[in-house]
Amino acid sequence: MIARLVVLVSGNGSNLQALLDACDEGRLPARVAGVVSNRPTAFALQRANQAGVPAAVQPLHLPREAYDAQLADTVARFRPDLVVLAGWMLIVGAAFLQRFPGRVVNLHPALPGALPGKDAIRRAWQACQDGQLQHTGVMVHEVVLEVDAGPVLAVELVPLHAGEALESLEARMHQVEHRLIVQGVAEALRKLA
Ligand code: GRF
Repeated sequence: MIARLVVLVSGNGSNLQALLDACDEGRLPARVAGVVSNRPTAFALQRANQAGVPAAVQPLHLPREAYDAQLADTVARFRPDLVVLAGWMLIVGAAFLQRFPGRVVNLHPALPGALPGKDAIRRAWQACQDGQLQHTGVMVHEVVLEVDAGPVLAVELVPLHAGEALESLEARMHQVEHRLIVQGVAEALRKLA
């Protein structure tokens, strides 16, 4: 059975691209059935267009509860087997999660319980420069109400180097993300099968 993925994006979409490529090359028993972005200018939308994947834009113009319900309607129209938050920059609440119980996963560029929330890569980099952190990581986890928590589907350690430029760490982190997003989605699909 080819699973239908609906991918939520906010920016560049390099993790969406990793999923599109994995599906294309038969490395993932799935296809991206739809892409939803909260930002009309997200380059990720061009990647969806290039791949012939239908997309919808849902800017945050409502109070969060109403927004989450409307976002769930938009996502549901693509009939997802699995919803993937890939570079998605908004917190999704109960009004969204209850529509897709046990079927929402998220990529977060930090280790479980380490640096929840935004800007995790830069925060890890700063902690390393301050001599407080020797490694960070990337994880894919099932989304629960607590931000960047939930059962871990895939995780990889990323060593930090004192004196390394932030851009260099970001590049190393994105390389791990692009591998882990495929591994994490594959694991989620295995658990749903
Ligand atoms: C990545 O570090 C992702 O984990 C974070 O946003 C960055 C860009 O992701 N949430 P993408 O290139 O838009 O997939």
